[in-house]
Parts: sequence; C-alpha cells; structure tokens
Amino acid sequence: MSASIFQLAIITILLSSPWANAQSSQSSQLSSSTSLSSLPPAPSVSFVSVNPTAVPLSRIGATEPASPTPTLASTPTSGSVPTFLPNAPPLPPLSSIVASKYPKLDTIPPIDSPEVQQWIAEVQASGIQIPSFSPTVAGGCPTNPQAATDPSRCWWTCGGCVRDTDISSCPTKDTWGLTYDDGPAYYTPNLLNYLDEHSLKSTFFVIGSRAASLPALLQSEYMAEHHISVHTWSHAAPLTTLSNEQIIAELGWCKKIIKDVLGVTPNTMRPPYGDIDDRVRAISLAMGLRPIMWTRISPAATFDTGDFSIHAGTISAAQVLLNWQYILGNASTLNTGFIVLEHDLFQQSVEIATGYILPDALARTSPKLTLQPVITCLNQPLGNAYIETNDNTTNPPPVTIRPSSKCSNLSHATFTTKTYAGVGTGHSSGRPTATGATGNNGNTTGGNQSGGASSLQSLPDMVIFVLLSLIAGLAVVF
Ligand SMILES: *[C@@H]1O[C@H](CO)[C@@H](O)[C@H](O)[C@H]1NC(C)=O
Ligand SMILES: *[C@@H]1O[C@H](CO)[C@@H](O)[C@H](O)[C@H]1NC(C)=O
Ligand SMILES: *[C@@H]1O[C@H](CO)[C@@H](O)[C@H](O)[C@H]1NC(C)=O
Ligand SMILES: *[C@@H]1O[C@H](CO)[C@@H](O)[C@H](O)[C@H]1NC(C)=O
Ligand SMILES: *[C@@H]1O[C@H](CO)[C@@H](O)[C@H](O)[C@H]1NC(C)=O
Repeated sequence: MSASIFQLAIITILLSSPWANAQSSQSSQLSSSTSLSSLPPAPSVSFVSVNPTAVPLSRIGATEPASPTPTLASTPTSGSVPTFLPNAPPLPPLSSIVASKYPKLDTIPPIDSPEVQQWIAEVQASGIQIPSFSPTVAGGCPTNPQAATDPSRCWWTCGGCVRDTDISSCPTKDTWGLTYDDGPAYYTPNLLNYLDEHSLKSTFFVIGSRAASLPALLQSEYMAEHHISVHTWSHAAPLTTLSNEQIIAELGWCKKIIKDVLGVTPNTMRPPYGDIDDRVRAISLAMGLRPIMWTRISPAATFDTGDFSIHAGTISAAQVLLNWQYILGNASTLNTGFIVLEHDLFQQSVEIATGYILPDALARTSPKLTLQPVITCLNQPLGNAYIETNDNTTNPPPVTIRPSSKCSNLSHATFTTKTYAGVGTGHSSGRPTATGATGNNGNTTGGNQSGGASSLQSLPDMVIFVLLSLIAGLAVVF
C-alpha cells in the first residue's frame, strides 16, 4: 500500500460538515441521529495524511453498522519463546486458560477468595502505608467536595494532581507515548495489523476479564513486542470509589491473568478513567505497579482524544480529530514528550486511529514525531516492563518507592473534564450489555466466556455504579 501521494498533500477535512454529503445513505443515517446532530460544529482541520483505505469520516459514528470482526494474519504458537525479552519464559499454552476459573467478565471480583486474601496479606506485608481516608462516593468531584479539595489525597480526577511515582509524560520532546486502553477486543486485530505494517509498537492497558475471554489476542499483542500493562480486572467502577480490598482484587486478578496468559507480569498500571488518589497509588505501588496516566497540562488541555465516546454517540469522529489537533498544539508547547489516551475497545475508536490519527502523526515532518510505547519512551528496554524480566538496575521495583510529598497545584475551581457525570453518560455507556451489538456495534468483549453475551452486565450501569459505591463507602478501611 502506497500513501506517498497523500503524504505530499495537505488534506483538509471540513469538520463542520462531516455528514453533509446528502448523496450517501450512510450520511443521512448519521444526520438523523439526534445525539450527533446536536453536537456543536467544529472548524476545519488540516491533515498531513490520511490512510487511503480509511473508513470515510462521515461513516464513523454511533449508528455505524458493525463491520466483520477481523482476524490476525497469524497467531503465536504455545511454547514460543519471546526471544526479544531476555529471560522471559516460553508462552503458556492457551489450553491452560479456562475462563470459568477466573472471576466474572466486567465484574468487580469478590474479596473472599484465597487469591485475594493472599494479595491482601502481601500488601499488608509490603511495608507501604495505605492512607486511611475513606473511598469517594459516586459522582466525582461535585459529590466529594472535601476530598476534591484535599491536597493530601492528591486526587488526579479533581485537579490533575500527580506524584513523582506517576508517569504522565515521555521525557523527550516530540515523543508520543502511544497507548490503547480497554482491550483486548474484537477490532484490536485491525489496530495490530496497522501497527505491524508501520513497524510501530504501543502500550496496551489490558482489562483482565477481557484477556481471559480473548487470551490468544493478548498473546499476539505481546509477541508482536507491544508493551502490556494492567488496567484492572473489570473496569466496572473508578478505583477511588472501591475499598482497599476491592482495589487489590481488581489489580491482583489483572496481574494474574496476564501472567497466566503471557508468562510475565506487568509492573505498571493505568487506573480506569484516570481515577487515582494517594490510597489507590499506595496500593498499586505495594503490588509492584507504577501508575501511567496521560498528559494533562491544564484543566482545559488533557490529552484525551475522546475516541471512547464516538461509539456512544456523545462525540463526533470529527470532534475527536479536532481534539487530536489541539493535543498536538499543546504538545508543541511542552519541553517534554506526551502520552495520549486512546482505546482499542470499539470499531469506531480503531477506525479513527488507523484511518486518521496514526497516518497523520506518521506523516508529520515539522516536527517529526517519534511514536513509542511508554516503556520505550522512558528510555527503558522492554524487559524492564515486566516483573520477571526487569533486572531492577535502572527501573527499581516500585515497592521500594514511596509517594513523595510533592503535589502539583490543584485547580478544582474550573476542572470538570473528568467528573463521574461523564463516566455515567459517556465512558460507562459504552459498556457491553446483554442486548449489545444491536445496530450500534456493542460487540466488544467476552465472546468466549461462560456463555458470552449472556454473562455480560444487564443492569443499567449507573445502578451498578451507585450500588458499588455504597458498598465501597461502607467497607472498613484497614
Ligand atoms: C473458548 O471457546 C473454545 C471453544 O468453545 C474453548 O475450547 C476454549 O477453551 C475457550 N477459551 C476460554 C478461555 O474459555
Ligand atoms: C490546547 O488545547 C485546548 C483545548 O483542549 C485548545 O483550546 C488550545 O487551542 C490548545 N492549544 C494549542 C496551542 O493548540
Ligand atoms: C527484581 O525485583 C523483583 C521484585 O522485588 C524480584 O522478584 C526479582 O527477583 C528482581 N530481579 C532481579 C534480577 O533481581
Ligand atoms: C502553584 O501555583 C502558584 C500560583 O499560580 C505558582 O506560583 C507556583 O509555582 C505553583 N506551584 C507548583 C508546584 O506548581
Ligand atoms: C460479534 O463477534 C462475534 C465473534 O467474533 C461474531 O461471531 C459476531 O458475528 C459479531 N457480531 C457482530 C454484530 O459483529
């Protein structure tokens, strides 16, 4: 595939009328969507290149029909040795992964299992002090005014506070720490194929229960030399709303399934929704996991493309491309590189990445961008990303690191981009339901686990969210 003619041309996409082509039946379908037509118009944006095989922008949206789920050109053989990782064990056989032996898909694991009890004991024995403040309640910053303004919590959600132990940028200017969250999922192969064709490597923040459902896909990501990291077992609730024991269960099961499928255990994690405070940090570090966030330079400039919400119809594909332009504009003002939030969960988010954002990034020359997984952008070898292969010399295990007392300024007065209101209407609404895949392509996860779709959440997300938050609020903090 040659994109040279595209790389020389500046392609301007009129974002103000992404569905204006009345000749296309697809377009009229899009314009009849109330959520899309109520979105504000966006100005035009220039692209250095788009993928010549990109799905037209006017098609990418909530009402887009599901395209056939792709397959990978090849999948790894069990017993293959990851020769690119010194001292890594051979790939475990997939027959050893039996989904029914793990907690349920997309559900917070119970805390009374022997595994979780063991991990709780290990956290207690780590010597890391877990702050004693109570979990937040559902609703985010507005419903937790005291916690939101308490600098001693360093709650990222309400002000963007980070600690020295958080990774939130790449050190080298014009270096983009490429990350995709919430897979493995049905359209992940399209992203992997694109990355492979362009010799790109990425970090994947993996949801444990989906890895249990699609273990071969996780092995493919790993054997293609991508960087695998923890993104909790279920992604069912923001971590600050959970009890210490539930956080341990969420992180512990995700570590375990990755180790069972790959033979190695990540030493980094990303909190769902970026929702982290010093209690979640301390538990993560006690479990050997360093947090990786995405770059945030001000309340208005958080490096989130918004790609997750195209599927739900709360943002247009055009707006996501405009966000991408803003991210690049803001990145140009930094002395460092940057990390951007994107997803491989949905057909739409993969289409926008492979059709537009990645081709545009690759074709830029002033400045030229370097796209790397987070571990690589930190100037670390890939082996340092896993507990079993880290030689601990230049990347000491986080369990020996403590959160520092330095905290960035809080700016809660205006910062609202990551409130839980957004979680309820945006992010969470993308959760698969028992009736998923009905015209809006909810076909995202879990096809192979204990009856597939029937095991998926069927209660409305907000009901579960509120219930879990109540439970978390009542739980005793040790
Ligand atoms: C997926 O389904 C296949 C066929 O039913 C089965 O052999 C395999 O064990 C399942 N994988 C998991 C992880 O359950
Ligand atoms: C930074 O991002 C904000 C919105 O997120 C945008 O309004 C602003 O123009 C961007 N800055 C630059 C220099 O592109
Ligand atoms: C690195 O640290 C981890 C965690 O403490 C430990 O399990 C591992 O054996 C260490 N590796 C080496 C090469 O010392
Ligand atoms: C906090 O904000 C004040 C005033 O805006 C500024 O002078 C100070 O340097 C900031 N401190 C940090 C650690 O960013
Ligand atoms: C959902 O994914 C499964 C498994 O790949 C596939 O068999 C099914 O056809 C897909 N459904 C839709 C609507 O894409």
